[in-house]
Amino acid sequence: MTLPRRRVPARQPAPARFRSQAVPREWRADVDHVLISSRRLAWRIRQLSTEITRDFAGRDLMVVSLLNGTVLFLADLIRHLSLPLRLDFIGVSSYGTGTVAGELVFTKALRLDVKGRDVLLVDDILDTGRTMTRVLEVVRKLGPRRVRTCVLLDKPSRRIEPVQADYVGFTIPDLFVVGYGLDYAERFRNLPFVGVLKPERYASS
Ligand code: IMP
Ligand code: MG
Repeated sequence: MTLPRRRVPARQPAPARFRSQAVPREWRADVDHVLISSRRLAWRIRQLSTEITRDFAGRDLMVVSLLNGTVLFLADLIRHLSLPLRLDFIGVSSYGTGTVAGELVFTKALRLDVKGRDVLLVDDILDTGRTMTRVLEVVRKLGPRRVRTCVLLDKPSRRIEPVQADYVGFTIPDLFVVGYGLDYAERFRNLPFVGVLKPERYASS
């Protein structure tokens, strides 16, 4: 379990120009509405990068990112980290169907050595907390100096495991979201925004 020692300060509401974006025409059949626009994502991730740069200055930073949902978030986050760092990936998949998570399976192990290093664990969304809890167990056994966690989205209302992230992009309500790396049945990862899928899409995929 991670303790929220280094939480990002309370967020100010996004400037009005970042709010509400119409669903682009090509996604209108699938996406009900945009929850977080691409401009708002960029604005918030820039803040997270600044915070992380400050907190890890002078450390031997190893960013460990969970595949596959973090690809877009990770790229935007680390391009603004003004720090020397190493990057590695853990593959983990919950082989569930649709919006219901199944059993957790590790599909790729870390390649780089994290022993004695400062690890920043990056995931797309903290939902029940099962994934983060399992991955933290695995990483901690490898003897890092410390581990901090960073997630783009947090759905605290769904939590089962007592885990919190140190850096959170956005806290969201209990909605199934897609886009910006997040998928439904492996689709929609390429949307440049975070959107809420139309309920009828769950049944037909
Ligand atoms: P947890 O183990 O329940 O915390 O869930 C973590 C994983 O479930 C995430 O890494 C996602 O892959 C997936 N997940 C949870 N909520 C959503 C969602 O709203 N949209 C897409 N994927 C989700
Ligand atoms: Mg995932």
